[in-house]
Amino acid sequence: MPCTVIVGAFWGDEGKGKIISYLALKDKLDFCVRTGSVNAAHTVWINGKKYALHMVPAAFVYDKCRLLVAAGANIHVGRLLEEVELTKVNGRMGVDQNASIIEEKHSVQDKTSAHLKGLGTTGWGVGPALEERVRRTAKLAKDIPELKPFLTDGVAEVNDGLDAGKKVLLEGTQGFMLSLFHGTYPYVTGRDTGAAAIASEAGVGPTRVDDVLIVYKSFITRVGAGPLPGEMTKEEAVARGWFETAAGTGRDRRSAPFNFELAKKVAKINGATQSALTKLDCLFPKCQGARKFSDLPKEAKDFIAEVENQTGVPVVLVGTGPEALDIIDRR
Ligand code: IMP
Ligand code: MG
Repeated sequence: MPCTVIVGAFWGDEGKGKIISYLALKDKLDFCVRTGSVNAAHTVWINGKKYALHMVPAAFVYDKCRLLVAAGANIHVGRLLEEVELTKVNGRMGVDQNASIIEEKHSVQDKTSAHLKGLGTTGWGVGPALEERVRRTAKLAKDIPELKPFLTDGVAEVNDGLDAGKKVLLEGTQGFMLSLFHGTYPYVTGRDTGAAAIASEAGVGPTRVDDVLIVYKSFITRVGAGPLPGEMTKEEAVARGWFETAAGTGRDRRSAPFNFELAKKVAKINGATQSALTKLDCLFPKCQGARKFSDLPKEAKDFIAEVENQTGVPVVLVGTGPEALDIIDRR
C-alpha cells in the first residue's frame, strides 16, 4: 500500500478474489481496479454467500471502495450489468471510457476459429475481442449507451487518488503462466498477465506501484490445454483433497504439487515484494479456519518457511478457509 498490484502466480485460480476481498475489508481500500476480462472468475465468500465475479472488482465487499474497470480491460456488458445488480454497487461502479468491448460474435469466433482449436480457451471470446482491438476496429465503453451511467476517466481517478494518498489495489486476473509473453505459449491467454501489464492496463506508471503481491496456491491447478509440470491423475487429486472445478466454466481443473522453482521464477519476473499463500488447509487440514500463525501445525509453518526461503519473498497472508476473513495476516 498505498498502491498494490495483485498477481496470480501460476495458471490462475490461486484465490486472488479471496485475498482482494480480505484486503478491501481489512485495509479499507479506496480504489480497486479490475483488469483483464470476463474469462477470469474471482470467487469471494462473504457471510456464507458465494460470488463468482467476472467483471466487478472483488473489493466490492467493502462498501466505501470505489470500483473501476481498467482502460486496458475488455468489458462484457451483459455480465457487468448483471453483477452490478447482484453486488448492489450501482453508485460506486465506474468503467473507464477507453475499455474495449467483448461481443457475442467474439465468443462464437472463439469456439469455431481453427487457429484457437486445441488451446482449451474459456470460450468467452477474449482472444478474438483482443484481436479486434489490435486491428483498431473494436467498440469502446464510450460507444455503448448502457454503460453511460458508469463512464469515467478511471486513469485520472486512480492517479489523482494516489496523489491524495488514497489506497489503491490493482486487481490482476488469471495467472502469470498464462501470460501471452511469459507463459506456456501458445497455451496462454491473449494478454500479458504480469504485474507490469496490470499496472499498464490500469494506467498507473511503474514508479507509482509500492507493492507487488503475488498469490500462490498451496498446490497448482490448470484448466484448458498445455503443459503442467508434476501433473497428477484426477483420482490422486481427489484423494489429496485438491480436486477443483473452474468457477467460470465448470470444467475440471488439472492439478499438480506446489512448484518451488516456478514460484521463485515468477516472483523475480514480477518484482514481487510480498506473497500470499492460499488454501493451506487443503495441504494441512489441521489449519482449517486458523487466524493466528501460532495455531498452525509445525508442517504448515515449515512449508511457509520453505516458500519464503526459496522465493526470497515474505509470505504476508495465509489462507486457511474460503471466507474472506479466513486469513492469517502476518504484516
Ligand atoms: P482464454 O483466456 O479464454 O483465451 O483461454 C486461454 C487459456 O487460458 C485456456 O487454457 C484457459 O483455460 C485459460 N484461462 C483463461 N482465463 C482463465 C482464468 O481466469 N483462470 C484459469 N484459466 C484461465
Ligand atoms: Mg478463477
